[in-house]
Amino acid sequence: MPTNRQILLDNRPVGEATAANFKLVSNDTPALADGQVLVRHHYLSLDPYMRGRMNDSKSYAASQPVGEVFQGGTVGEVVESRHPKYAAGDKVAGFGGWQEYSVVDAGQPGMLKKVDTTHVPLSHYLGAVGMPGVTAWYGLVKIIAPKEGETVVITAASGAVGSAFGALAKARGCRAIGIAGGADKCKYVTEELGFDACIDYRQHPDVKSMSKALKEACPKGIDGYFENVGGYILDAVLLRLNAFARIALCGMIAGYDGQPLPLANPALLLVNRVKLEGFIVSEHMEVWPEALKELGALVGSGKLRPRESIAQGIESAPEAFLGLLKGRNFGKQLVKLV
Ligand SMILES: NC(=O)c1ccc[n+]([C@@H]2O[C@H](COP(=O)([O-])OP(=O)(O)OC[C@H]3O[C@@H](n4cnc5c(N)ncnc54)[C@H](OP(=O)(O)O)[C@@H]3O)[C@@H](O)[C@H]2O)c1
Repeated sequence: MPTNRQILLDNRPVGEATAANFKLVSNDTPALADGQVLVRHHYLSLDPYMRGRMNDSKSYAASQPVGEVFQGGTVGEVVESRHPKYAAGDKVAGFGGWQEYSVVDAGQPGMLKKVDTTHVPLSHYLGAVGMPGVTAWYGLVKIIAPKEGETVVITAASGAVGSAFGALAKARGCRAIGIAGGADKCKYVTEELGFDACIDYRQHPDVKSMSKALKEACPKGIDGYFENVGGYILDAVLLRLNAFARIALCGMIAGYDGQPLPLANPALLLVNRVKLEGFIVSEHMEVWPEALKELGALVGSGKLRPRESIAQGIESAPEAFLGLLKGRNFGKQLVKLV
């Protein structure tokens, strides 16, 4: 059996997460028992939610145990199988964690899924045609539920969730406005993702300036807001909401290292009779088949062209993850192992 390099959570962060919170180790891969398969990971998924799991605080998900392989989504190839439904060469998506190989009890529900790479590249099953894509779908379709012609806005627009959101919103006849960090990301958001406009928040670093930019980009006001960041951008959006607007509260990445995210004027939620709903995509497994079907069709037809930031080799995972939390990624952040 092959040697397996793994990254463990070595200790919990105090304040900002650092590379010293992780540790690279090498272990032998155990021999397979009946019902198990050995998967060689091709890509690891790096996701903002992982920062929350590094803490030992109460949350919607159990925290990552210290001293164990850092948990996360993976795609790869079966290299050996002792399960009748899997054979060497099958391409699979799973939750193998930050390691080069995983031994999976393939019969347990939800552990492993075969994926078809005929029209969709393997890596996209961790992004547009995976968890982040379904996240965009759920927030847009089930919470914002836009009517044709309505205006919807999303933060982190060039990222894994944001890029899928743009294609899904345009498919529903919405005016889609992105907010992203930097001219290059904004250019990609409008020219390649098909958003109607994109606001570079670095050029609008306070509520007044951001609110003015939103007024220009959303002349009919904002009907739906998909929140990924939090902070002053949310304050600016609240100033531009229409009556009966809907907010899908998906993430607040600006506060993941413990920064406070005060809200300047929460009374606007009442004034505008706003529906605000937080959600966790893994609690809505019932929508995944429908969402993945639409997302797969958008990618297959070229209407959704997701971008990826790819770090090379298992040892690059911690730094790439810390970069993701600071916006150094451009599109879905992955680590390539093969
Ligand atoms: N609720 C759920 O079930 C669920 C599931 C998946 C993801 N999420 C959330 O969805 C959001 C997007 O996730 P993703 O996987 O698509 O990541 P991503 O957008 O590909 O990457 C994160 C992006 O966040 C932006 N960002 C980071 N810090 C920021 C700050 N202080 N201010 C403004 N923007 C900042 C950066 O983009 P810029 O350079 O443009 O700033 C960065 O590229 C995250 O908040 C994540 O936690 C939630």
